[in-house]
This record gives sequence, C-alpha cells and structure tokens, in this order.
Amino acid sequence: MDAALGSTRLLTLTGPGGTGKTSLAVEAARSCGQRFADGATFVPLASVTRPELVWDAVARALGIETKTGDLAVEVEQRLRDQELLLVLDNFEQLIDGAPMVARLLEACSNLKVLVTTRVPLRVSGELALPVPPLELPRSDASESELLSSEAVQLFLQRSRLARPGFEPTNEDVRIVGEICSRLDGLPLAIELAAARTRLLSPRALLARLERRLELLTGGSRDQIERHQTLRAAIDWSYELLEESEKTLFQRLSGFSGGVTLDAAEATISRITCLFSSDITCDIRPWGTLPKRGSRTEKPPAG
Ligand SMILES: Nc1ncnc2c1ncn2[C@@H]1O[C@H](COP(=O)(O)OP(=O)(O)O)[C@@H](O)[C@H]1O
Ligand SMILES: [Mg+2]
Repeated sequence: MDAALGSTRLLTLTGPGGTGKTSLAVEAARSCGQRFADGATFVPLASVTRPELVWDAVARALGIETKTGDLAVEVEQRLRDQELLLVLDNFEQLIDGAPMVARLLEACSNLKVLVTTRVPLRVSGELALPVPPLELPRSDASESELLSSEAVQLFLQRSRLARPGFEPTNEDVRIVGEICSRLDGLPLAIELAAARTRLLSPRALLARLERRLELLTGGSRDQIERHQTLRAAIDWSYELLEESEKTLFQRLSGFSGGVTLDAAEATISRITCLFSSDITCDIRPWGTLPKRGSRTEKPPAG
C-alpha cells in the first residue's frame, strides 16, 4: 500500500463486496495519513447515490460550510494548497463521477486520492490494486499451518465472539480450514459463517454450506445493510449492472469452479458486452484462478 501510494496520486482498491477494501483504506489512512502534512480525510459514500452529490459528502468531511453554493469549486479551493490523502470509500455506484475525481487531482497538485470501489474508475493516472481474499490453508495443511492462516484466524476470532469460551478441537480446526476454502477466503462470508457457530458446530456448519446464501445471514446490526447478508452484498453489485451485463452474468452463473474466456465464448453467443463492460475485470481472473484446496465451486463475484 505504502509503495503504491508513493507511486501514484490516484490509487483505487478494487474487488467484490466484503473482500476488505474499506478495512484496508481505513488502515492506510491511519498509517500513511501521518506522512501527509494535512493528514487524511475519510469520506463515506455508501449512501450517496448520485455523482453530483459527491461534493456535498466531501465538503461535509472537510468541514466546509458553503458560501457560494458551488461546493465543487469550494472543495477545489480548499484542497489546492493542501498535502492531503483523500479517501473516497464506496465509489462503484458513482462511477459516472470518475472524471470529477480526475479534475480535482489536476487542480490540486499535492493531493492524493485513495478510492474503494468494486470496479476501477478508468481515468488516466489511476493505479488499480485488486484486494485479494484472505490467504487460505492448503488442503493438506498441518494444524499449525491451519492456525497461522489469516482466514482460519478470522473465523476463530469471530466465532469466539459468537460463542464465548469456544475452544476448537484439532478436528474443528481442520473443518474451519475447509469452511474458509469453501467461502473462497472472503472476509465478509467468513464473518457471517463464524457468527453461526453460536448455534452450529463447525461440522454442522460445513454440512449446511451447500445452501450458503441462506446460511450467510445475520451480520451485526451496526453493519451497513448490504453487509448483513452475503446475498445483499451480491445484490448490490448485480443491481449496478446494465441489462446486457445482467444477462451475461446469468448465463455465466451456469459455470462452476470459474470460467475461462474460451469456455465463455463457446457457450455464450451474444458476447460483445464481455469486452465492452466493467464485468470484464471480474471475468478475466476467473479463468486463471488457481485451484484451491477442496473447493468445488465459485460463487458469483460481488
Ligand atoms: N484482512 C482482514 N482481516 C480480518 N477481517 C477483515 C479483513 N478484511 C476485511 N475484514 C472484515 O470483513 C468485513 C468486510 O470488509 P470490508 O472492508 O467492509 O469489505 P469491502 O469494503 O470490500 O466491502 C468487515 O467486517 C471487516 O472487518
Ligand atoms: Mg466497503
């Protein structure tokens, strides 16, 4: 992160919902913000639905009270001489506003912008960094390897909150490794699954993961709504797609365990939007996904 922020003025953290973009951006603002003379400002945009309202949110975060009613100009004037890291969290539903970010960077030469979004902004100078899922244990990992895997650690940490005093046996730890692999190391899915250990043993949980979208509900009430269930996290992305992209997505959902571009082309006749849409950035890696552990299927990207 540090190196990436050193080499660009516009860094975007991309990836499906629940992969850890916001967490990483918050951490970056805390750790890298000190190196900016004017610090870091975090702008939450999840509830902003129209690009023209981005400036209201930025102005609010910067504590600007409008004098002229033209917030875009006032934000620009404030930031022109500042050395600041501006974090724009949750930009995917505002992607048409990407040129506004580019213009702001042009006007403010000491400004850096860190954006979290499910799709890249696609403006010049952008460095898009995909946030990978958590590291998973190998299928034949020893107990100590399992315990040092980030995914297993997250599951155990969260399950102790759901079930105080939970002391996993060796067998439980092995099954937790399997659960994490089945969930592709996605932090949000792991957290929702771990919350289920309140009632279910790891073995019972694994058995029920076949119906995983029904099971992965009941996130914390203080989480944003679309992080309370995995289905809501996926719905949010799906609703942002164009109609042609939705059709493509539905057809691709017939594949299991990822899809190569060749297989997609062979199966889907109207494939033009594969090359013209933002969906591409989610498809390309599918074909090159390494086989992990005993995973047998891949959920739709969020
Ligand atoms: N590296 C990580 N280690 C532990 N928990 C994580 C990690 N990354 C994300 N999480 C947890 O997963 C959930 C989803 O992360 P979040 O940053 O909100 O994802 P996104 O912004 O990509 O939708 C949050 O509850 C967060 O605490
Ligand atoms: Mg987020």
